[in-house]
Amino acid sequence: MKYENMADKPIGIFDSGVGGLTVLKEIHARLPAESTIYMGDTARVPYGIRSAETVIKYSLENSSFLVEKGIKLLIIACNTASAVSLNIIRNTFKIPVLGVIEPGAKAAAQATKNGLVGVIGTEATIKSGAYGRTIRSLDPRIKVIERSCPLFVPLVEEGWLDNEVVEMVAQRYLTEMKLYNIDTLVLGCTHYPLLKKVIKKVMGDDVVLIDSAIEKAKNVAKILTTSGLLKTLETPVHRKYYVTDCPDRFQEIGKRFMLDSLEDITKIEIASLEEKAMALKNACGCGGV
Ligand code: DGL
Repeated sequence: MKYENMADKPIGIFDSGVGGLTVLKEIHARLPAESTIYMGDTARVPYGIRSAETVIKYSLENSSFLVEKGIKLLIIACNTASAVSLNIIRNTFKIPVLGVIEPGAKAAAQATKNGLVGVIGTEATIKSGAYGRTIRSLDPRIKVIERSCPLFVPLVEEGWLDNEVVEMVAQRYLTEMKLYNIDTLVLGCTHYPLLKKVIKKVMGDDVVLIDSAIEKAKNVAKILTTSGLLKTLETPVHRKYYVTDCPDRFQEIGKRFMLDSLEDITKIEIASLEEKAMALKNACGCGGV
């Protein structure tokens, strides 16, 4: 599609699968006039158990695909991909690129009163130390306790959001956080906002939960406004989805994340993603695309 104005171009968002829909939902709620293209890498999910090298490769391929679609802004909705590949993607593409770590870290640094912040995420996110680094760079006095919760993602995908099994798993993962007496907990994974109720029950009402999806959406609204890229409702709104596997499953599970049905889903081949990334790399000598 050709766009007359930069502001009319869509926002591109990618995630390892359906989880990034938590971010998309907040963006649609805050910025209803914006067109969006969401890409879920459902064939290669989960990213959270993979090496940084592999996640960087996938992230560059997903970004190349979206940039080629003519987006005005790229959002990396996946915490794992943001944690390990944000800087590389920023240095590769000319459009603004936003991850989910910075807004979540900032909100946590502002929320804590006792200087004890917990961060939960996938193995790769926690291993990268990205949240801890970012929070400490904002306030070196804050002590950050990080913990991976690998079973949370499959539980959410299974639709188990609030039962005794999820509660037992949450108790096990979060005991250490409780012992440290944290007063703020960052939900550092796309799937965790769906477990808020159980996490709140385990942690108690006094612990502030930071939802990285909400923080991201606030941040996008601010950046589009200050850069003059905010679209108005005068031009039509398009919401398009691409997945690398199982569009039907994406639609089914996606409902849990969006509380709405997802239309206009197209399957793309991994081989074509790899080709596009290679072509762009060759064309630009891997400077800006
Ligand atoms: N999207 C991932 C994240 O936010 C969770 C799912 C995965 O491991 O790919 O870290």
